[in-house]
Amino acid sequence: MSLLRPERIEFKSPAQIRRMRASGLVTAAALAAVREAVVPGATGAAIDALAEASIRAAGAEPNFLGYEGYPASLCFSVNDVVVHGIPGPQAIRPGDVVSIDCGAVLDGWHSDAAITVGAGELDARSETLIEVTRQALWDGIAAFANATHVGAIGAAIEARVRAAEPSFGILREYVGHGIGSAMHMRPDVVNFAARERGPRVRPGMVLAIEPMVVERKIATSTDTDGWTVRTVDGGRAAHWEHTVARTEGGVWVLTEPDGGEAELAARGIQIAPA
Ligand code: MF3
Ligand code: CO
Repeated sequence: MSLLRPERIEFKSPAQIRRMRASGLVTAAALAAVREAVVPGATGAAIDALAEASIRAAGAEPNFLGYEGYPASLCFSVNDVVVHGIPGPQAIRPGDVVSIDCGAVLDGWHSDAAITVGAGELDARSETLIEVTRQALWDGIAAFANATHVGAIGAAIEARVRAAEPSFGILREYVGHGIGSAMHMRPDVVNFAARERGPRVRPGMVLAIEPMVVERKIATSTDTDGWTVRTVDGGRAAHWEHTVARTEGGVWVLTEPDGGEAELAARGIQIAPA
């Protein structure tokens, strides 16, 4: 039967969104803890252990660990690795671009967020790549606050990336997603302007918005570990992500400690907690 109609989008009540906020704050705290640890000489494995300890200390569980057999609590994607890199014993080097994607499940509610940071001093192009991707995420979140359809998010993300640096590429094979009682739910949230408008946006919709931007070509391959996704041309990548709720009055960024207040105020939008 499910083949005959698309799986439905899970809309959350205000009380459920508040429970998702508690989960989002656990993920935010884990990312804040690991961010400091991204320094030359540190290993992905050590940073993974920090995140897992932070999540468990908050009474939550890492939702990545064991997900389809995934072996860690975060994804650790360095330089040409775009997403789903597995943290290991290799030390970070000065100038590395490090994307860290992490999530938690608390009380049955999932959250998912990612940051990209440099280890030591970065070259100017890597700095630009990271900052453009971060701005594109916030433009996508701002679009979600006013959107009638999910497609507005990807359109805003693509517009920001194109305006900033036309040579950058936006991944099309990997997308954002609905989130709530599971990590990956309907609908897909593409990071480009699509022909379709996408599903209608309504209060109670919660999305993981996550632009993945590369220096040059968007072609990727997956390593034999079955997870690590890297660019074919060796270009570097950046990835930023937040779990964002659409409420009656606008949006609430569940994985940002201030709920998105500062970044959205800069775009003329007031946050709307549930
Ligand atoms: N945030 C990641 C995503 O949405 C989750 C990765 S699942 C894992 O793709 F198993 F790789 F951890
Ligand atoms: Co995600």
